[in-house]
Amino acid sequence: MLLCLFFSLSLFSTFIDNGSAGITSAFVRTQFPSVDIPLENEVLSVPNGYNAPQQVHITQGDYDGEAVIISWVTADEPGSSEVRYGLSEGKYDVTVEGTLNNYTFYKYESGYIHQCLVTGLQYDTKYYYEIGKGDSARNFWFETPPKVDPDASYKFGIIGDLGQTYNSLSTLQHYMASGAKSVLFVGDLSYADRYQYNDVGVRWDTFGRLVEQSTAYQPWIWSAGNHEIEYFPYMGEVVPFRSFLSRYPTPYRASKSSNPLWYAIRRASAHIIVLSSYSPFVKYTPQWHWLKQEFKKVNREKTPWLIVLMHVPIYNSNEAHFMEGESMRSSYERWFVKYKVDVIFAGHVHAYERSYRISNIHYNVSGGDAYPVPDKKAPIYITVGDGGNSEGLASKFRDPQPEYSAFREASYGHSTLDIKNRTHAIYHWNRNDDGNNITTDSFTLHNQYWGSGLRRRKLNKNHLNSVISERPFTARF
Ligand SMILES: [Fe+2]
Repeated sequence: MLLCLFFSLSLFSTFIDNGSAGITSAFVRTQFPSVDIPLENEVLSVPNGYNAPQQVHITQGDYDGEAVIISWVTADEPGSSEVRYGLSEGKYDVTVEGTLNNYTFYKYESGYIHQCLVTGLQYDTKYYYEIGKGDSARNFWFETPPKVDPDASYKFGIIGDLGQTYNSLSTLQHYMASGAKSVLFVGDLSYADRYQYNDVGVRWDTFGRLVEQSTAYQPWIWSAGNHEIEYFPYMGEVVPFRSFLSRYPTPYRASKSSNPLWYAIRRASAHIIVLSSYSPFVKYTPQWHWLKQEFKKVNREKTPWLIVLMHVPIYNSNEAHFMEGESMRSSYERWFVKYKVDVIFAGHVHAYERSYRISNIHYNVSGGDAYPVPDKKAPIYITVGDGGNSEGLASKFRDPQPEYSAFREASYGHSTLDIKNRTHAIYHWNRNDDGNNITTDSFTLHNQYWGSGLRRRKLNKNHLNSVISERPFTARF
């Protein structure tokens, strides 16, 4: 069995390194109907107590993981924006005052949205926090990441296009059993925009209550998808992203971004760049200028793992949304290769797909080169738009499978990226149908910076030196 596992892992890594025939999974899944969970279902229920905090979610609040932003909604009256927290349950030594806002969407009036930045946290520590007052107060906890360090291990989950169906709930519950510490979310949260008029706002509220079981306890790193745009002139709603931006804050200022829709954070040994597929990104736009500077700030000696999130996949071989990532590819792919991005996660297509390391940076319209080629410096592109929303699966893949596509399957699920050290991470894609422990696509990801021959030799030499230098010390005992 172990031998078999070893063989299949090395087979996968050979594919990743060299490029080879890809796999189109023949798995036919059973599925819940793609319908949203009814409003009266208890997983969407409002917590007990007058004005009790609901839709609680946290995200990283700074560049390096010593802060969180805690957000929640109160429905009846403004109430308190205070967060009380401490190192043990029920003992809240520190109080921080947050901010309050609300918004209207058509004739829907949102609840009171509280956002509180909690700073100066210790790394690798469990904090307990309380929000709300009196009988309606609610208690949660979260864990801070390890200090930014090249060998800090950390397990991320990756979820996209989640929505609020029974499939969404299944994905969420499978993810929560994975042991991952934080979600990299690749856009399309609630699918509330599939409703009309006041129901749009109502369905943002139900989504917040559905995901609270995870988002109140660990940070989700948000990026925006097309379902966050909500450009609806017929309702008089023409300011894009209004609901998303009002409800889901991001720490964009910490990375000198001018807009909450694109930003970067560092967490453990990873540098994570969040891009906005639906904001201007071509040359000379604010996002382009910002990304140019952010890539220069990446220090692989401190954060070996360089991860990019976006909504629209650049390499996708599904009929759904085919080529939609081409404009961003032509703008940014050259940088992704130059800066040796390890992996790029996207959503949008409601299926799973993984590419080989390929690039198409030689394409220049007038030349003959117009097809992606194997490129060891290029990222792996992974599409995880399979969270389980009300639009259902994108089950029609292009035939034949293009050479850049390594594995593809139309099933619901989530991924995990378990970073072990500066050189290795274990990646899994987990299909909902198989329960918690069965993965259907997995491989060892070799770091693009530290995995190079020269640096690996340097690393081994340093390791050897440290072992030798420790010897006299240990000999004393
Ligand atoms: Fe999408």
